[in-house]
Amino acid sequence: MDVFKVSGNGPLHGQIEVGGAKNAALPILAATLLTEETVVLRNVPDLSDMRFMLEILRHVGAETVQPEPGTWEITSKKITHVAPYELVRKMRASVCLLGPLVARMRKAEVSIPGGCVIGPRPIDLHIKGLKKLHCQVDISNGYVHVDASAIKGGPIFLGGRSGSTVTGTANIVMAATLAPGTTRLECAACEPEVVDLCQMLVKMGAKIEGIGSPELVITGVDKLHGCEHSVIADRIEAGTFVIAGAITRGDVTVKGIAPKLLGAFLDKLEEAGLPMELGEDYIRVLPFTGSLKPVDVITLPHPGYPTDLQAQLGALMTQTEGLSIITERIYPNRFMHVPELQRMGADISIEGPSAIIKGASKLSGAPVMASDLRASAALILAAFAAEGDTWIQRIYHLDRGYERFEHKLAAIGAKIERLSDKEMPKELLEE
Ligand code: EPZ
Repeated sequence: MDVFKVSGNGPLHGQIEVGGAKNAALPILAATLLTEETVVLRNVPDLSDMRFMLEILRHVGAETVQPEPGTWEITSKKITHVAPYELVRKMRASVCLLGPLVARMRKAEVSIPGGCVIGPRPIDLHIKGLKKLHCQVDISNGYVHVDASAIKGGPIFLGGRSGSTVTGTANIVMAATLAPGTTRLECAACEPEVVDLCQMLVKMGAKIEGIGSPELVITGVDKLHGCEHSVIADRIEAGTFVIAGAITRGDVTVKGIAPKLLGAFLDKLEEAGLPMELGEDYIRVLPFTGSLKPVDVITLPHPGYPTDLQAQLGALMTQTEGLSIITERIYPNRFMHVPELQRMGADISIEGPSAIIKGASKLSGAPVMASDLRASAALILAAFAAEGDTWIQRIYHLDRGYERFEHKLAAIGAKIERLSDKEMPKELLEE
């Protein structure tokens, strides 16, 4: 099992490139099942989640060719409609297969994705949307069974108790592209990754209006054709790198990201007083002395503050004088990084859906455990500001969503290396 050894170090300096967005590439990979023609995808990040999704596509019958790193040519001439448990359980985003299978095959059998540490991951809204498209949906033996022989467009309100659903929107939009009639989808997710998916579907011949707004109108067509598409940059990876620059008081240019994709995030950092220079396709964090200002932030669906950058901001606020309040409205349990940060010396208390962070606290390196993708990133960011060495176990969580994370950060001065857990001091190994 791999571990990261991270040593506290001074300011990071230099330029760091952002890769393709995992949360755009996953539904986009699933969307290649909507046509029997070849779809060429570029800027696909090399992550374990991508490998899982490609394995599932091949399982249902897709042919996948990788002519060069980051590029995939996918052709699904003949496919089956079943996504089995042994594959789906590895990655809950495989629920995105529902929409394309329903659209293309007029039936689907997809194992229900498991939950994960950040909280229950229900799919009731996905099912509600399919039923509104006149599909028969029933759940048995842990599978969603869909009979879409009578599929037809119609009005759908997709909002749930936490607002819109990202992969739910992706699923219903994909199903509606080949459903006869018109589908008016209200309370659709507006995340840039959903916009990217819709833009690719339009390239494939889909008719979608209102892209980027909470109301989408999809007019069903008979067939979709192949296309070429380059996946949008990963705004969450970019935000993580911005915080790496900020927490080390460095001078870091995050390249290959349009600042407008991170509106709420950058607004919050500006409020905290972080000096930044924004360009067409970069965000530069500038060195600063003294302390940033504490913040009060609530995570919300886009364009609100992204839940996927909640833990990373929390790490930064442990180094900021004053009281910060971070309220998690999307996944109530998304504070698994807090006990680990406390082990490093952070002063954080959890009050209901909020983390109350009292800064600035002196962090010291410690053996810690990664628990989910973004929590792992937060622990690494904190370790950059800590005195001494931090050993982070279970970094397979990180490998799901960050490509070559340690290499990219080491290239701008971070002291981070991937080792085997056998190289960890015996006394630090957690059973
Ligand atoms: C997507 O998950 C992302 N994953 C998540 O990123 C991200 O945190 C999340 O959107 C919110 O932005 C991918 O895109 C692959 P939701 P998704 O459906 O689609 C509730 C990461 O770290 N809900 O928008 O599963 C749900 O419980 C990952 O990259 C229902 O109640 O999230 C949550 O509270 C983590 N019923 C809220 O809606 C449903 O049917 C938002 O969930 C579906 C969701």
